[in-house]
Amino acid sequence: MKYIIFSNNDRLPLLGLGTWKSNPGEVYDAVRTAINAGYRHIDCAAVYGNEAEIGNAFADAFSAGDVRREELWVTSKLWNTAHKENQVKPALEKTLQDLQLDYLDMYLMHWPIAMKESAGFPFKGADFLTLDEVPLEETWTGMIKQKEAGLVRHAGVSNFNILNLEKLCRVECPEMNQVEMHPFLPQQKLADYCKSKNIAMTAYSPLGSLDRNPKAKSPDEPLMLEQPVVRKIAEAHGATPAQVLIAWSMHRGIAVIPKSVNKHRISENFEATELSFTEQEFDHLNAMEQTFRFIDGSIWTVAGSPYTMADLWEA
Ligand code: A2P
Repeated sequence: MKYIIFSNNDRLPLLGLGTWKSNPGEVYDAVRTAINAGYRHIDCAAVYGNEAEIGNAFADAFSAGDVRREELWVTSKLWNTAHKENQVKPALEKTLQDLQLDYLDMYLMHWPIAMKESAGFPFKGADFLTLDEVPLEETWTGMIKQKEAGLVRHAGVSNFNILNLEKLCRVECPEMNQVEMHPFLPQQKLADYCKSKNIAMTAYSPLGSLDRNPKAKSPDEPLMLEQPVVRKIAEAHGATPAQVLIAWSMHRGIAVIPKSVNKHRISENFEATELSFTEQEFDHLNAMEQTFRFIDGSIWTVAGSPYTMADLWEA
């Protein structure tokens, strides 16, 4: 396993288990299976609605002696409805209570989008707050305070472009930016910027997020797992297409969090840590770039919302 090493020497394993779309009823087994398969990095978020069940899995894994708390890296995320500075600590405390932990290894601002506490799915224009009403810097200041208080060891963001990162860097640069990343969307300019500011990165939806709501998919969406380049490289290594996509992120020094609730696929994905490419194979995967987003952010730009796609994705 390769790691990202932070300035205090904490080590984030590059491969983690994603838990978005892992339903209550299945996520407990997924987390226990992953820990037993060797995963030491679990990616969570309050909005996934499954942190209480993940907390039970952690508690049972610790008491069974499968892993010690200090060997496990746990990330969670602050939801958009708790962006006011005085809302950050209560939101974090709820996550800690659900996860049955007394600290997080990493706490991320989930989106650069502020919403009213009353907002719920599906979103309406009236649910949003503007960034003038709740600046990202205000939320960020609230998050840094939790780091200073010892409730989180590291603080970062998710879905931030360069302009939004620059705003926070005027206060203090985040330690992590978790974004959608795969060979269709390598985000090299953002990765170069993050590297220049010592901001580590995590790739979400590395397999193309096939299990998300069909309403959020376009009918002609390309399937990464079936791309001939990916299949050919997989065959050459006796590996699977999913392992190739996961290894591609690790080859770039970027953490990656494939989601699975299937015992076999959880182990299969972990074995991607063994896979390495020739530079030519890496180049062939890089040539798949087409700036395609599976998570396009359109839920944030409904009628009446103050946010636009340009705010989100243009640097
Ligand atoms: P499952 O949970 O049944 O294994 P992403 O991480 O990009 O969001 O992708 C998650 C989707 O990919 C889920 O549908 C998940 O299904 C599926 N998946 C996870 N691992 C693999 C794998 N090794 N091969 C094929 N599909 C996978």
